[in-house]
Amino acid sequence: MTKINDLIKKLTLEEKAALCTGASPWTTTPVERLGLPEMTVSDGPHGVRRVADVNDWIAGSLPATCFPTASCMASTWDVNLIRTIGQAIAEECIALKVDVVLGPGVNMKRTPLGGRNFEYYSEDPYLAGQMAASFINGVQSKGVGTSLKHYAANNQESQRMTINAKVDERTLREIYLAAFETAVKKAKPWTVMCAYNKLNGTYGSENHRLLVDILKDEWGFEGLVVSDWGAVHDRVASMKGGLDLEMPGPRARRVKAVVEAVRSGVLDESMLDESVRRILGIVFKAAETSKGGSFDTAMHHALARRIAAEGMVLLKNNGILPLKDQQHIAVIGRAAKEAHFQGGGSSHINPTQVDNPLIELQKLAGDAELSYAEGYPAGTAFDQALIDAAVKNARSAEVALLYLALPDSKESEGYDRADLDLTPQQVALIKAVTAVQPKTIVILNNGAPVAMSEWIDGTAAVLEAWMMGQAGGGAIADVLYGKVNPSGKLAETYPLRLADTPAFINFPGGNGEVRYGEGIFIGYRYYDAKEVPVQFPFGYGMSYTTFTYKNPNVSAASFKDVDGLTVSVDVTNTGKVTGKEVIQVYVHDHKSGLVRPPKELKGFAKVELQPGETKTVTLALDFRAFAYFHPAYNQWITEDGEFDILIGASSTDIRCVQIVTLQSTQELPSLLNRESTLRDWMEDPRGRRVFEPLFQQYTAQMRATFDAHKVEVGDIGMETLGFLMELPLRDIFYFQENTLPMPPEDLVDGLLAQVSQNN
Ligand code: BGC
Repeated sequence: MTKINDLIKKLTLEEKAALCTGASPWTTTPVERLGLPEMTVSDGPHGVRRVADVNDWIAGSLPATCFPTASCMASTWDVNLIRTIGQAIAEECIALKVDVVLGPGVNMKRTPLGGRNFEYYSEDPYLAGQMAASFINGVQSKGVGTSLKHYAANNQESQRMTINAKVDERTLREIYLAAFETAVKKAKPWTVMCAYNKLNGTYGSENHRLLVDILKDEWGFEGLVVSDWGAVHDRVASMKGGLDLEMPGPRARRVKAVVEAVRSGVLDESMLDESVRRILGIVFKAAETSKGGSFDTAMHHALARRIAAEGMVLLKNNGILPLKDQQHIAVIGRAAKEAHFQGGGSSHINPTQVDNPLIELQKLAGDAELSYAEGYPAGTAFDQALIDAAVKNARSAEVALLYLALPDSKESEGYDRADLDLTPQQVALIKAVTAVQPKTIVILNNGAPVAMSEWIDGTAAVLEAWMMGQAGGGAIADVLYGKVNPSGKLAETYPLRLADTPAFINFPGGNGEVRYGEGIFIGYRYYDAKEVPVQFPFGYGMSYTTFTYKNPNVSAASFKDVDGLTVSVDVTNTGKVTGKEVIQVYVHDHKSGLVRPPKELKGFAKVELQPGETKTVTLALDFRAFAYFHPAYNQWITEDGEFDILIGASSTDIRCVQIVTLQSTQELPSLLNRESTLRDWMEDPRGRRVFEPLFQQYTAQMRATFDAHKVEVGDIGMETLGFLMELPLRDIFYFQENTLPMPPEDLVDGLLAQVSQNN
């Protein structure tokens, strides 16, 4: 720290300003006279996209392992595996001379239409936060940095550079910031990347509340904030907003603007110094890890295969899988020969090698005959002849495997999806093939849910194989032949129809803004609350074995919020093959001051079990597992009362329920004010204590008045107490003004004073 402070004193104003903007699209500015090195950054997030020439924006990149994208990673629900991938990516960074990898992306999948959903983990902030933290810990354990992105509310590509996301405070905290918060607190990423979009009127790059108040001050983030590439609009405003490093560079005008702003007194030099301090802190940290050498391409390819197989989700299986001794298999679909293993845009990796799914399948199929048919053309064109040939192929085989990949035009960074559908040709192909071959298995390569209701009934099995990374072709074969027992579970809901999705009428917005009208109800929180049937629920995935859940237990039936709770359950593999199960714990609050989702994921674990084996799975639930963010208190609060602890195999397959009682230890300030209603007073414990005696007296008087006038309460067709409940106290007092010792306003003020004395 003293070293950095000394350096800041030695740097000229121009040098300091220059340090806060890149020297090239991928490097920071070095200061040779003081021995300050440059730092190289590269995309992310599921591999290293190290451009061959850092001065070239779109130069080709050096070969690196393309791991499965985040949708697949999250579906493993395996934090240890994610950590291992992080370590492998760090090894590649070291070999490719990269100091910071630009990932992970931890934004929520607000709608399945989000073009970058394949790069993001989940619709659930708890799961996404755990995944991101493990990834970061893995990378950074090797002395390489990460960039947690895109902070915040970057949930669509439509008007991606300018859209104003209008999100209420509670929704922001519980849904859109929560995964960032977990990752920052648990894993301390070296850098955080701001989002392009505006949040509630202010660009991500200038958002002081997000970057300084919340990220740096509240969460204690010590690293640097980097702009997304091209996200800065006004360099001085962004520096004031807490953005430390602008990328890409060079941008001489920006540097000049900062220098002039300091000279003219528009920008306090201490703000510039603070950014320089943060940047140098990371630059020196990066320099501690010496770069160069090579990485084990074969080992990393094998790791990519392992994670792809672990993340694939078996959605349907009527018993056809795993494949056994079929001798003639029809393999249909271009994706069998041309693996679709990653998405388009900045995350695009130049793979070290790519598994051909068909060749990998043949390796496991032994002598069986695999007869190939293309099935569908590239892109979205329609070609009946390809369908006809596929049908012929399928009819003569014992089983048909349909390898279907969504074309790039339907899913990529840069634009949102228009629908959830496969191409018309692919749908027609499935229908035609399943009509002649009931033993048809559909294998999907895509980064986000597709609609299936039109065709799924005719299939024998469906495997969601995702954008599966360069080794995914082998991983599909592993799962189809049962070399790997599938254990992936969905990290996002598969809806039946687009019109069923939570943000349907509020996406992608218009006139420059998008209103997050569904609030905290995204993903399963929405489908649960609205009782909307879905194709496959969050947390769902099949196995070749079966599991039972027994002996659920909680550490205490009644507990204090700060103590949290330990939950355990015995899980047994009741089938014939070894398998892995993802045990999920959700919390349901029986009664809350503000509406809460019917259930929220608060813990999970993945265990491997041999046939017949039982393991006790234990999970800890902390304060935050029971809390919600209350905008009026501007903090996370707990409330006394009962909660269900739901232990399940998916969000809808709850196997055990335990009821516990929470005692809140929080002393919250009273929210009562002059406008508070009778209900507010009666529901606030302190208010009630102060007001109740008066209330008794008041209702007796009221009754007497009614009696005197011979008025029946029901005469005006309303329930009196219900009516009074929603009125401010002052207005209620006005009904009895003549009998009051003082004016109603003064009476309310007196009560409020008593409440605050008791606070
Ligand atoms: C993307 C980032 C990426 C950056 C650098 C941007 O367009 O939004 O995710 O890291 O480019 O390629």
